[in-house]
Amino acid sequence: MQTDWTTAATAARRNRYYAASQSKFVPFAEPIVFRRGQGQYLWDAEGTRFIDLLAMNVCVSVGHSHAKVVAAAAEQAADLTHCTTMFYHPVPAHLAEELAAQMPAGHDWVVHFTNSGAEAIDLAMTMARTCTGNLDLLALRTAYHGPTAAAQSVTGISGWRHPGMPGNVAFVAEPNAYRGIFGPGAQPYLDEIDRTIATATTGQIAGMLIESIQGYGGVIEMPEGYLQGAAERVRAAGGLYIADEVQSGFGRTGDHMWGFQAHDVVPDIVVMAKGIGNGFPLGAVVARRQVAAPMAEKFLFHTYGANPTSCAAGRAVLQVLRDEALQDNARLVGAALLARLQDLKSRHQAIGDVRGRGLMLAIEIVKDRASKEPDRETTARVFEECRAAGLIVSKSGPGQSVLRMVPPLCLSLQDVETVAEGLDRAFSRL
Ligand SMILES: Cc1ncc(COP(=O)(O)O)c(C=O)c1O
Repeated sequence: MQTDWTTAATAARRNRYYAASQSKFVPFAEPIVFRRGQGQYLWDAEGTRFIDLLAMNVCVSVGHSHAKVVAAAAEQAADLTHCTTMFYHPVPAHLAEELAAQMPAGHDWVVHFTNSGAEAIDLAMTMARTCTGNLDLLALRTAYHGPTAAAQSVTGISGWRHPGMPGNVAFVAEPNAYRGIFGPGAQPYLDEIDRTIATATTGQIAGMLIESIQGYGGVIEMPEGYLQGAAERVRAAGGLYIADEVQSGFGRTGDHMWGFQAHDVVPDIVVMAKGIGNGFPLGAVVARRQVAAPMAEKFLFHTYGANPTSCAAGRAVLQVLRDEALQDNARLVGAALLARLQDLKSRHQAIGDVRGRGLMLAIEIVKDRASKEPDRETTARVFEECRAAGLIVSKSGPGQSVLRMVPPLCLSLQDVETVAEGLDRAFSRL
C-alpha cells in the first residue's frame, strides 16, 4: 500500500473525501501532517520537531509510541486482534482487575469497557438512570463530555451541541474561579445546584456529571468543597455522582491518579478514556457494583468494547505509569511549567489568568485584564506563533480564548525551558 505523505496531497484528499462533520475541527490556518512521535515530541512530514503540549487530545499519557505499549499491543494483535466481548479473554479481565485496584479502597468496583469516552459517558448516563429510576441529570455549563447524542446533551458549550440531543438535562453554573458568574468559591455554586434541582427537575434526579477539572471548558478546577457539596446534594435528591476523568485521570494532575481524589470524595461512577490507552481506542466505566447491577436486566453490547489489543495497551500504560513514576513527573514538571507561565503573565498584559495543576495547565487570553473580555483573535495569533516556535498547544474554552497545555506525562524540565521561551517569543510578537 502506497501512502502519499505530502501535506498538499493529504489536505486535498481530506477536503475532497471528509464529510463536513469531520472537516470543521482543524486547529491551524495551514494544514500540518504528523509523521512520527516519540515521547513528548512529534515530527511533521518535513521532519520538523514539535513539543506536543496537546498529547493528541490528551490521549498520549505515557509518551508517543512508547515501546512497551506498542510491544504489548503488537504482541496481542499478532495473536488475536479482536475477541468480541461475549467471549472470554484474559487480557481485558486482567485490565478490569488492575483498574479496580486503582480506585479508592473500601468499595466494590466493577468495570465496563467501551471504545471511547463518549460511549462511556452514554453508558454512565444509562446506568445512573437505570439504577435510580430517575431521568433528570445535571451537568455544568462549559462541560465537554463527548460527541454522541447523549454525551452532547450533557455538554454545556453550544459549539459542540447539534440538533437531536435527548433531553432531561439541566445545567448549573460552572464554579470558575476566574470568571464564574458568582465569583470564586464553592458555596454560591452549590446553592445554584439546590435551586436547579428544585426548579428545573422533577426534584428526584438520576445524577450529576462533573469533570474533576474541566478540559475543553478551559482547564477549570473545581474549588475546594464543591465536589463534596455537589455529591451530597445530588445523593439527597436520589441521584449519583458521576466523575468524568477522561482528561484529568491517569496521574495527569500530579497529586493523584484521579482528579476527584484531591477533594476527599468518592464517586458512584467514574468515566475514563483517552490516557487509558495511550492512543489506542479504549474507554471504561468503573462503577460501584450495586450501581451497575440493575443493568443486568437487559443486553448492552459494544462490539469493540474490551478489545484485547486496546486492553493490552491499557495494561502496559498502567505499568509504565508506575515504572517511570510519571505521576510524580507530572507534579514536578507541571509545577515548574506553571511557575514559568506565572512569570509570563507578569510580563504580558494579554494574559489574564494562568491556572491548572500537574500537567493540565492553561493560559487565558483577554482584551483587557479589568473587563476580562475573552480575546479569541489574539489567542489564535499566539497559537499560530507557537507552531512557528515548535509548540503544539490547544485553543480551548467556550470563547476559544484559552491555550490549554496537556502534554504526555513524560514532559521534562528541559522542555519547560523551551516551552517558556517559545511562549515568550509568541506573546512578544503580538
Ligand atoms: C472530559 C471528556 N469527557 C468525555 C470525552 C469524550 O471522549 P471521546 O472523544 O473518546 O468520545 C472527552 C473528549 O474529549 C472529554 O474531554
